[in-house]
Amino acid sequence: MTSPDPKSLRSAFGRYMTGVTVVTAQAPGGSLVGFTANSFTSVSLDPPLLLVCPGRHLSSFDVFSEADHFAVNILADGQESVSNTFAADRGDRFGKTKWDADHNGCALISGRVAGFSCKVTQRVDAGDHMVLFGHVTDFDSSDRPGLGYYQGGYFSLGKERQANAPAHDSRLSLGSVILVHDGNVLLTKDNQLPTVQLDDHTGARNALSFYLHSIGLDAHMGPVYSVYDSPNSGTHHVVLRAQVANLPPDCPLKSVPIRSFEEGPARTDIQFLILRRFAQEHRTQSFGLYLGDMEKGEIHKNDKG
Ligand SMILES: Cc1cc2nc3c(=O)[nH]c(=O)nc-3n(C[C@H](O)[C@H](O)[C@H](O)COP(=O)(O)O)c2cc1C
Repeated sequence: MTSPDPKSLRSAFGRYMTGVTVVTAQAPGGSLVGFTANSFTSVSLDPPLLLVCPGRHLSSFDVFSEADHFAVNILADGQESVSNTFAADRGDRFGKTKWDADHNGCALISGRVAGFSCKVTQRVDAGDHMVLFGHVTDFDSSDRPGLGYYQGGYFSLGKERQANAPAHDSRLSLGSVILVHDGNVLLTKDNQLPTVQLDDHTGARNALSFYLHSIGLDAHMGPVYSVYDSPNSGTHHVVLRAQVANLPPDCPLKSVPIRSFEEGPARTDIQFLILRRFAQEHRTQSFGLYLGDMEKGEIHKNDKG
């Protein structure tokens, strides 16, 4: 155990897997405010209570310190851009998002998994945050899957399940891993990510763990980093992140500095593009999730909370 400093404590807190919410309120003049929050917690069923923790750093902190009402929106898988808007965008957040007002005038985001309209019951000062308790006056919920957040990056339960599930169609399915060790990525001798072919019995996570174990690597497998289809070869790729604590002396993989993918000459192959994005995100420890194909896809990027 060590005594907490903010940076390492933040990283330790970040190991708690959460969903993602957007918390909204109406300022006294009628303008809307909102921020992305993963500090949401259900508190009580009877009476129906929940809490969120707005930070003092928020531009909307004063509004949440005074407001009588607020709303909590649980974001759905695929709503990473909504999360990013309410975490980082400095412009008109509500102009970029579809929403409706609840009966208190607080914004309910379209496509949410669940929404809660709340009356403030209690505020507790808590260091650099405030604990804001709300009495749920109305709510709705759907069976959409929620958006996940873990260690500074989004994850999708759907994609994780897909990565764990055996290959289920006739296409060739490949599992690759971005193995990180001490500021380096471990690549094969021909500069490729370690890759295994997936069969119809084993999912990517297990197949990669098995392969890494067979070459003497003890890797801590992380979340899915990228999922894409390659239309030319008809292959389906799943790329995971993983951390390696100790390199055995006879490791068949070579260490390549992560920063070299940002600095070196650009290549156009998909693995290089993935590694370059990884290098950029590694600097800020803020990882997105790429879904798409080789020609076009979407990076579901986030800014850290
Ligand atoms: C996934 C995620 C969770 C976050 N959770 C919280 C939170 O619980 N409380 C908080 O104050 N800020 C949290 N943040 C940071 C705020 O969303 C961010 O600082 C906010 O956009 C700042 O709003 P402002 O630009 O209006 O000041 C989180 C950010 C992300 C990406």
